[in-house]
Amino acid sequence: MFVAIKEQHKGVDVCINNAGLSHPEPLLSGKTSAWKNIMDVNVLALSICTREAYQSMKERNVDDGHIININSLCGHKVIPFADFHLYTATKYAVTALTEGLRQELRAEKTHIRATSISPGLVATEFISRASSKNPDEVAAFYATTKSLKTKDIASTVTYILSTSPHVQVCAYFQSVWT
Ligand SMILES: NC(=O)c1ccc[n+]([C@@H]2O[C@H](COP(=O)([O-])OP(=O)(O)OC[C@H]3O[C@@H](n4cnc5c(N)ncnc54)[C@H](OP(=O)(O)O)[C@@H]3O)[C@@H](O)[C@H]2O)c1
Repeated sequence: MFVAIKEQHKGVDVCINNAGLSHPEPLLSGKTSAWKNIMDVNVLALSICTREAYQSMKERNVDDGHIININSLCGHKVIPFADFHLYTATKYAVTALTEGLRQELRAEKTHIRATSISPGLVATEFISRASSKNPDEVAAFYATTKSLKTKDIASTVTYILSTSPHVQVCAYFQSVWT
């Protein structure tokens, strides 16, 4: 993907690590293959894209780039839902990876920024893919549970990209579970 980006657009200035998933596989009974898939996408792919984006910025002397990780409230609090415990571990990893990235960027004396955005529940396809609920149960869940809209997350990303270089934004969204 990064080779194709280089050919078509020269490189990456902003990387938003959004891809993420979960499977309803609790810690006491879940399938190893499902856990590996969650780790691959939520932790490894995010780390690979971060490394490739940084290298792309570095080779083109881009000093005002930005790497934004779409984290979750699950990156800061363990919610009482067994289906999401392995997912929660990967989002805690995203919290650590964002802070580690910030420290490495600082050591490199670059002004490329690292940001983590931690939404609570957002109305997307996430729950229908990640839980064992059937479509009617998912619809009932969203009808009775307060959720953010995707435009709330998009506005947050736009705001963060527009802030001055010295500003560090800490974006947590209130959740029904906190
Ligand atoms: N929805 C929530 O309540 C919520 C709350 C907090 C944080 N988040 C986080 O928000 C991010 C986006 O999730 P979402 O809510 O938009 O869920 P979603 O509707 O299920 O979308 C997930 C996205 O991840 C992509 N993806 C999954 N596996 C992939 C893979 N192997 N390779 C490439 N792309 C892959 C999907 O691409 P395809 O469509 O092509 O499969 C899709 O674009 C995730 O990191 C999630 O953890 C979501």
